[in-house]
Amino acid sequence: MIKQTLLPLFFTLVVGVAQAQVAPSVTHPVANPAPRDAALKPVFDEFGGKAGLTALIDDFMVNLMADPRTRPFFANVDRAHVKGELVDQFCVILDGPCTYTGKNMEQVHRGLDIRRSQFNALVEDLQKAMDKHGIPFRAQNKLLAKLAPMHREVVTK
Ligand code: HEM
Repeated sequence: MIKQTLLPLFFTLVVGVAQAQVAPSVTHPVANPAPRDAALKPVFDEFGGKAGLTALIDDFMVNLMADPRTRPFFANVDRAHVKGELVDQFCVILDGPCTYTGKNMEQVHRGLDIRRSQFNALVEDLQKAMDKHGIPFRAQNKLLAKLAPMHREVVTK
């Protein structure tokens, strides 16, 4: 008798809790645009610190402007500002002594209608710049591994 009344109650509680745990979050928290990873400090040095990153981002922007797949996006924006934010963002990602105060990735790219192919083009342009600056391949991949998941916030088309 006790078993018969308690079993459904037990079931309801356990299933209810399990469902609450797997239920999707309603607020969709936005990913951190500059996830810091202490393990990447040596990689920051391989990029030549903040000065190295600044020189790298200068060439990255030159590549973005020379690339017909990415140029239209950057032609009419404050490129000096974007470069400054990119330096800070990459610096934080590589655990350098910087602070990223720019917008989050979803917010800044919303409405730009960026396709996956355009995202890949930007990554190629970054790789070209990193090659030019002699960044070791392994170090390049450490940074790219942090940037790759950002396609979720950047690609909207
Ligand atoms: C992992 C990939 C990417 C990262 C980490 C990234 C990062 C950033 C950052 C830090 C900014 C400046 C934020 C601010 O002003 O507060 C920015 C702006 C911008 N990004 Fe990206 N971005 C990425 C991909 C792309 C792609 C694929 C495109 C287009 C092909 C793009 C186009 C732009 C444009 C046009 C702006 C300037 C927006 C404005 O000032 O109105 N981004 N991005």
